[in-house]
Amino acid sequence: MAGGVIATDSGSNQDFPGKLTGQVLICTTIAAFGGLMFGYDVGISGGVTGMDEFLMKFFPNVYIRKHHAHENNYCKFADEYLQLFTSSLYLAAIIASCAASIMCKKFGRKPTMQAASVFFLVGAILNVTASKLSMLILGRLFLGAGVGCGNQAVPLFITEIAPPKYRGGLNVCFQLLITIGILIANLVNYLTSNIKHYGWRISLGGAAVPAIFLLIGSFIIVETPASLVERGKKERGLKTLKRIRGVDDVQKEFEEIVRATEISNQIKNPFRELLKRPSIPPVICGTIIHVFQQFTGINVVMFYAPVLFQTMGFGSNASLLSAVITGTVNSLSTVIAIFSVDKAGRRKLLIFGASVCLIAQCAIGGLLKAYLTETSKVPGGTAKLVVGLICLYVNGFAWSWGPLGWLISSEVYPLETRSGGFFLAVGTNMFCTFLIAQSFLSMLCTMQAYIYFFFAAWLVTMIIFVAAMLPETKGISIDEMVERVWKKHWFWKRFYNSTDIERPKASIQLEQQDKPNQ
Ligand code: BGC
Repeated sequence: MAGGVIATDSGSNQDFPGKLTGQVLICTTIAAFGGLMFGYDVGISGGVTGMDEFLMKFFPNVYIRKHHAHENNYCKFADEYLQLFTSSLYLAAIIASCAASIMCKKFGRKPTMQAASVFFLVGAILNVTASKLSMLILGRLFLGAGVGCGNQAVPLFITEIAPPKYRGGLNVCFQLLITIGILIANLVNYLTSNIKHYGWRISLGGAAVPAIFLLIGSFIIVETPASLVERGKKERGLKTLKRIRGVDDVQKEFEEIVRATEISNQIKNPFRELLKRPSIPPVICGTIIHVFQQFTGINVVMFYAPVLFQTMGFGSNASLLSAVITGTVNSLSTVIAIFSVDKAGRRKLLIFGASVCLIAQCAIGGLLKAYLTETSKVPGGTAKLVVGLICLYVNGFAWSWGPLGWLISSEVYPLETRSGGFFLAVGTNMFCTFLIAQSFLSMLCTMQAYIYFFFAAWLVTMIIFVAAMLPETKGISIDEMVERVWKKHWFWKRFYNSTDIERPKASIQLEQQDKPNQ
């Protein structure tokens, strides 16, 4: 998962002094290993679940079905436990991200990242040494706890540490790192698939590498000024801000951090706040965007691409290589988003991206319906065309719904409901990812080629929703979100009347003494 809560207003404060210092770059690079860890785990499971030795050891029934000459192509991999191997991670991540949002607030971003790397390390060790299925699943649950902690703390850390004018770009960079993690996983799977007996162990154990980097690195990085202020350590927060900006003139930015923190501290129960009438429009838009992001079907490709390619009749190696190709397209296309997101506008990119995905899904569904029967393989040329179409589909996703899902859900909320709203977004995303991971192989077996039209129907729905209901948020600052976006929208304006919005005011007072940690 990418994106994050932008702790202060990113829209109106482009002119704070301070540059992209070495400190910021080192801290961001270290934290970025959190994105890589997540991406690695997204990308690794599909390749591993296609490896014969792995299947023989943990899923012998799937192994027999895969090699059975008369087995239905679409049902070779349909197995609840195999799906659970992939999906369990997301179940654990939902719970962990809830605990991590509290931990982030109470203890800071740095310890939460340390916890993430420890969970990742334990998960990777359990997976590398797994002798039975229960150990494998337990390892995935630990990895999920790491994902939950990392995905709450890392984006928050990166956006808080970055100078305001670089926040939008760095937000999308986190998504880029996830895609690089997925690509590395695809490559590792490709290389280890020929190592007899323990290739899959190397693949799963690879998750430990970014975890070790993050663990060691998290002792080097600074805590963010926003987190220090939030926990009553204003003096240290100011000192840290001067250090990371490389200038002494940081008063304006610091006051903005104090203001943002005071507003969010005045909200005792952010979730109750989300139930109030004026919160309904951002809650609906910020949450549904994640349901839609997952129902583009992207994780079918990210998790199960090698399995899908084997379903079409590709050999193991060709399938893993094809996954490397789609992974490369994913990373490269995400770079486009970094440059276009603040120019083209969110709505245009979402509609155009979904249209590209729609065309690709319909074409893939049509080709498989025509050429892939229950028992015969797809002819070579057509199979290559399908790989090309999957690349087109991934490309359409990577510069639209991928990064924008996260960006939009972090910017539609006014400051006072932003952290609660973002938590809702992360939870929804994880839950829908779990649903897709847990049900896709069974759905493929039942619906066969029609599964692609199922996702196409979702894509049509999301194009209509964006066109009719989603307001444009490009270039709008947090303070103006309600007045300029929601109150002006043809439909959502009915949720507001002039007395509705009494936004909390914060007094800016710098204290000489740090308060004790709360
Ligand atoms: C999604 C992930 C997905 C990734 C693919 C992210 O935006 O949230 O579920 O695996 O993009 O690049």
